[in-house]
Amino acid sequence: MTDNKKDNRKFTLTTPLYYVNDIPHIGSAYTTILADVIARCQKLQGDEVLLITGTDEHGQKIQRTAQKKGLAPQDHCDQIVESYRHLWEILNIKYDRFSRTTDPRHQNIVKEFFQRVWDRGDIYLDQQKGWYCVACEEFKEERELLENHHCSIHTNQKAEWRDEANYFFRLSNYQQQLEELYQNRPDFIQPESRRNEVVNFVKQGLKDFSISRVNLDWGFPVPNDPEHTIYVWFDALLGYVTALLETGEEATLENALSKWWPINLHLIGKDILRFHAVYWPAMLISAGVPLPEKVFGHGFLTKDGQKMGKSVGNTLNPVDLVNRYGADAVRYYFIKEIELGKDGDFNEERFISILNADLANDLGNLLNRTLGMIQKYCQGEAPRLTGENIAQDNRLREIGVNLGQEVRKSYQDLQLSLACEKIFNLIRASNKFIDESAPWSLYKQGKQSEVEQILYAVLESVRLSAYLLSPIIPDISTKIYQQLGFTINFNETNKLNEEATFELHSQWGVVPTNATLGKPEPVFSKLDLPT
Ligand code: MSP
Repeated sequence: MTDNKKDNRKFTLTTPLYYVNDIPHIGSAYTTILADVIARCQKLQGDEVLLITGTDEHGQKIQRTAQKKGLAPQDHCDQIVESYRHLWEILNIKYDRFSRTTDPRHQNIVKEFFQRVWDRGDIYLDQQKGWYCVACEEFKEERELLENHHCSIHTNQKAEWRDEANYFFRLSNYQQQLEELYQNRPDFIQPESRRNEVVNFVKQGLKDFSISRVNLDWGFPVPNDPEHTIYVWFDALLGYVTALLETGEEATLENALSKWWPINLHLIGKDILRFHAVYWPAMLISAGVPLPEKVFGHGFLTKDGQKMGKSVGNTLNPVDLVNRYGADAVRYYFIKEIELGKDGDFNEERFISILNADLANDLGNLLNRTLGMIQKYCQGEAPRLTGENIAQDNRLREIGVNLGQEVRKSYQDLQLSLACEKIFNLIRASNKFIDESAPWSLYKQGKQSEVEQILYAVLESVRLSAYLLSPIIPDISTKIYQQLGFTINFNETNKLNEEATFELHSQWGVVPTNATLGKPEPVFSKLDLPT
């Protein structure tokens, strides 16, 4: 076993390595937004974080796509990779590593790993007969296919019959160890419903699976038998390991695994659960590598209640969406609207109405009206108070004092939409509190100290909310903090923990207010439905 020296303040997480057969779609954007939000939450709490994303570039699917375009596969991949990088840039994704399976160092890692599994006696040559879906890059059981051998996921594509010599991985050797893994570490697969799926699948008995292909050049040759190319999934999963190498470091498994392994969280869609929760741990056990901590399979997105796809003609281009509405809007919608793990829907009217209600009205107006009142009633200076000066039974204080810990727990449990709900509970209570306590009439009555207490309590609630929402809407949170007179930028994630520690900033009524407030400007403008 490779030694595990990783300390528990280091957090490593991955998105899938996306196929480069086409430009990124909304599903890839969804997983990557989730990963970025989780990475930012961990950083906010002081962890050293490594967020890995990247691309899966080998295999028949990519080779054929390149061929159709009349391009060399590498040139095709290089083009598509740029569109991924561009999307992550405009979505404000702060990834630390971009792992490409065509990275020359990756071949060394795959070769060494293959050799370990080979030496273990877990690889053998046999005849593979079966139906292969190139779009899934997976053999299918006849019963899994639709009429005329169409794939149930890629319904417009027919699976192809294969009868060829392939190298196989002895997955069946790992039946018992996998069952023990799921039993002893119930959190290994999440959510619970996905765990049950996998446990039931494994219970039916595991079959060995083929890990090489013939008649395919685009990939790495099998060591000692270059007629065969290593199966794209065997190669791709190891992309997570290659990503851990430092720049310029020699590409050995030992180096790659020395600092950031084991991965704490593989975030994936439910369709690729079997690869991550069954094949991957078995491959790792075979190679003597410690297992990742958790695999989380999120749900699928539909559009207006329908499965999205080119054949249906209802795809949603994430670049258009961000260009039209901005990164924070898109990030917020997917985090707040979809309970992580469940399927979710995109509907433009709902998208606009949620953003207008939450970000423009509840949050944006709250900040705006509060700053406006401070200009009017306090000569533009934030009241110099602390939470101690606010009555203990003040509603905002009551909610605020526990909110940081509650939201931290929701974030840790990956209940991201619940975290939003809790934060917006304070935001809505703040609006209500202003309406009910009517500081404008107290001001007229000369009750200055009461006015200041109200405005302080509200201002502090806005600040805390902005802080806790910063992993989700970093640009808006930064604007709010700057209007409150701080110079903190939530996009400078590596400096955050010195400037705005979670210990201090997640509390209510403790951060010293900055007397000089920034210039009030709307943080989120109301959206209109496109005409
Ligand atoms: N290349 C493999 C992953 C290899 S990881 C070592 C792959 N790539 S993919 O580009 O096809 O899919 C990437 C991710 O997008 C998967 O997690 C998949 O679940 C997700 N989605 C694809 N369509 C989706 C939706 N309609 N909704 C949500 N996510 C979806 O698989």
